[in-house]
This record gives sequence, structure tokens and C-alpha cells, in this order.
Amino acid sequence: TSRRIPLVAGNWKMNFDHLEATYFVQQLAWKLRDARFDYKRCEVALMPSFTSLRSVQVLVESDKLRIRYGAQAVSVTSQGAFTGDVSADMIAHLGCSYVIVGHSERRKYHPEDDANIVDQVRAVLAAGMQPILCVGESYEERRKGIELDFAVGQVHDVTRDLSDEEASRLIVAYEPVWAIGTGMVATPQSAQDAAKAIRDDLTATFSTTVGDTVRILYGGSVSSKNAVELIGEPDVDGFLIGGAALKVDELTKICRLT
Ligand code: G3P
Repeated sequence: TSRRIPLVAGNWKMNFDHLEATYFVQQLAWKLRDARFDYKRCEVALMPSFTSLRSVQVLVESDKLRIRYGAQAVSVTSQGAFTGDVSADMIAHLGCSYVIVGHSERRKYHPEDDANIVDQVRAVLAAGMQPILCVGESYEERRKGIELDFAVGQVHDVTRDLSDEEASRLIVAYEPVWAIGTGMVATPQSAQDAAKAIRDDLTATFSTTVGDTVRILYGGSVSSKNAVELIGEPDVDGFLIGGAALKVDELTKICRLT
């Protein structure tokens, strides 16, 4: 059994304005409180849009909520003439714990390549937050049977120059692209195989401590119907959830089952 505390993280993508976001956070906190949810047993985090972060911070701090939150992307530079970008320090100063880095939707719709993703990871770590690094094969790689090498390679290429201390603060989300928003969830066995392969590579590249510390989440069509089986796998340490994180009862259920 592992000592890693599971993490249930909701990636809201481009949904909810700041009023809807704060209402949701309040509802979730109430429902979890009614269920006597133990936040020491499982961490809960939400990733709203930039425009909602300040409102979520005010609510969480004033009501002393145990729900954590973070951003969905970050600039690789610290300040200056970069219209429209948001720096890691700006995000950290809003009380964020996490930043999603390298989500497949960002890789697809924005010019985010490995070099850029490395810099995002470094920026997040330097600001004292934890990057949730997203990796995962598309249907094409799976069809060729190279999905494990592909996902491991993505983590390896982005993290290999980090120090052990930096690497130990990583969180990895294995999100096969074909499973995102499709209702086609990976089998528990294939989520486990990917998480184990990624963990083994972290152990080999860094140390046993890093391999044992880094949490590896599964993402892609997670719901209250499949969460129990997935979390039963020894190397799956939680979830990065899209669609199901937009429904408060569903998300409450997943938190309780994790
Ligand atoms: O980042 C989480 C996401 O990509 C998974 O989305 O809707 O399949 O849970 P969904």
C-alpha cells in the first residue's frame, strides 16, 4: 500500500464564469461536509478559468474551505510585453496549489511543444506550486501498440533535467487523448500499466524516493461509474476530471469513492 494521498482534480476547461464557479465551490464544500468527507484521506482540487481564480480564493479563505484550486495553463516568462499571458507568480499569489501543464487541448490549439512545456513546469515549480503534467497517446499510437513508450517518453523528455527535489513535486496525469470527453474510459489495467511504466521511468531517472512520491492521476471519461475500479489500481493515485467535474453531485460522489 502506498502513502501517497489521492488527488481528485476537476479541470473545468472553458466553463463557468466567476459566479457559477464560486456557487459550485460552495455547493461542493457543503455536500462534502454533509458527507463528513475526510480531506486528509483524499485531496480535492478545482481548476477554474483565470477569471474565476480571485473569486474562488476569496471564498475559500473567508469560509476556510479545504478545497484546493489551481490554473489550467501558465506563461513561461515572469513578466513583460506578453499581451494576454499570466505569470506563475500572479497565479501563486492567488493561493493556487496547482497548474495544469501540457494538456492535450493546449498542445493542439496553442503552440505548446515540449520545450515550452518544460519551461512551464519550471515556472510553476519556481513559484512554489505543483505542476500537473498531462501526457497520453492518441488513438494512432494505441493502434500501433506503442502507447506506453509514447506516454513514458513524453514525461521523460519534459522532466529529465529537473533536480530530484523538483521532480518530487511533480504530479503526472495520464490522459489518453482518445478517452477525453468520449465516454471511452481506459480499462483499469491499461491505466495501471501506463502509471506503472511512468513511475518506473521516474525511479530510474531520479530515485526510488521520487518514484514513490510522485502522484500519477488518470484522466479521460472518469465518472462515478468507473472511479472505484480505477482507484483500486496500485499506481493510480487519483483523477483529472473534465465533464464529470461540472456536475456537483457527480463530483461529490467521485470524491467519496476515491
Ligand atoms: O483534463 C481532464 C480531461 O481532459 C478529461 O476530460 O471530460 O473526459 O473527463 P473528460
